[in-house]
Amino acid sequence: MNTHAKPTAATTVRPKPPIAMLAELTHRCPLSCPYCSNPLELTKRDAELPTEVWVDVFRQAADLGVLQLHLSGGEPASRRDLVDLVRAARDVGLYTNLITSAIGLTERRLKELDEAGLDHVQLSLQGTDAEMADRIGGYRGGFARKMQAAQWIVDAGFPLTLNAVVHRQNLHQLPRAIEMAVEMKARRIEVAIVQFHGWAMENRAAMMPTREQAAEAGRIVAEARVRLKGQLVLDYVPADYHNDYPKRCMGGWGTTGLNVTPEGKVLPCHAAETIPHLTFDNVRDRPLSEIWYQGAAFQAYRGEDWMQEPCRSCERRKIDFGGCRCQAMAIAGDPAATDPVCIKSPLHGRMVAMADDFAGDDAAVLTYRTGP
Ligand code: SF4
Ligand code: FES
Repeated sequence: MNTHAKPTAATTVRPKPPIAMLAELTHRCPLSCPYCSNPLELTKRDAELPTEVWVDVFRQAADLGVLQLHLSGGEPASRRDLVDLVRAARDVGLYTNLITSAIGLTERRLKELDEAGLDHVQLSLQGTDAEMADRIGGYRGGFARKMQAAQWIVDAGFPLTLNAVVHRQNLHQLPRAIEMAVEMKARRIEVAIVQFHGWAMENRAAMMPTREQAAEAGRIVAEARVRLKGQLVLDYVPADYHNDYPKRCMGGWGTTGLNVTPEGKVLPCHAAETIPHLTFDNVRDRPLSEIWYQGAAFQAYRGEDWMQEPCRSCERRKIDFGGCRCQAMAIAGDPAATDPVCIKSPLHGRMVAMADDFAGDDAAVLTYRTGP
């Protein structure tokens, strides 16, 4: 195993511009979901980028070729300047998507966001009733507020996507979550079986679905896709640890998207800071375009030059790009290794055993997100 993997060679072909940018406006959040994928160490309020820097970053993103801007966090509604930021993004022609728990959104604020040009809202769902949702989100009364906000969102005419993160503790509610999406007149539901990055790693034993649950979720989604064709679009992120092949994480490293953290670091994916040898440029120091095309972190795992066997000679290497670099780091200790989810990885057996052990740990309790 190459435990000292360094970026080997930059791809010789100039990459295409990114399609999407995730702007993590803040790490502040009223919820404390145990599956939070933000890093263990969160950015404090006084280190967040000010309005004018974000506005300039949005302009640079549009110039670079970004089409879609995802405004995320933490809870982006925790930023007082959210309406101004949306307006600035629309002014430079970006399609704006607000990813929110809806806590902090009032009817008036939604109206202001609508007037500022917000295009789309993606609403997280921690459970399908107050008991589950408030327990998982660690916020009493959150479900009732979310349902009220969902009504305002739809009444304001925003296209709505429900984002249901499912795991061992709430997977039995998946059919109801799909029904709720229909009742709310959402256009889309994203059913994501919990992915383990950042804080969520602390909760693998409490949240890992069983193999049977993971298979059942796939069946429920497949059946609903047929039944609700033309009415509701279902996106599905399957259970990573129980798969035979890994996901094409971020659509391929440095190919389609970039993330900007609350303090301005530009990352190829939201968990990239877990790869210790990488260094990240900051929008305060370097133009976004230079960071995308020449930044060391983006060059590190772009293309195929960095791949080891079995990925290097695998027929699927252009399909999944060897899976997730951050998962390879977390499980194999080497970000250039084959994602251990892959059946061809020498660590796949260990991954399967780990998933089953976590899924069978009935004594595990949730560790809630804290800070900043
Ligand atoms: Fe993908 Fe690598 Fe597995 Fe092939 S060996 S399927 S490229 S992760
Ligand atoms: Fe970083 Fe998958 S989360 S590459």
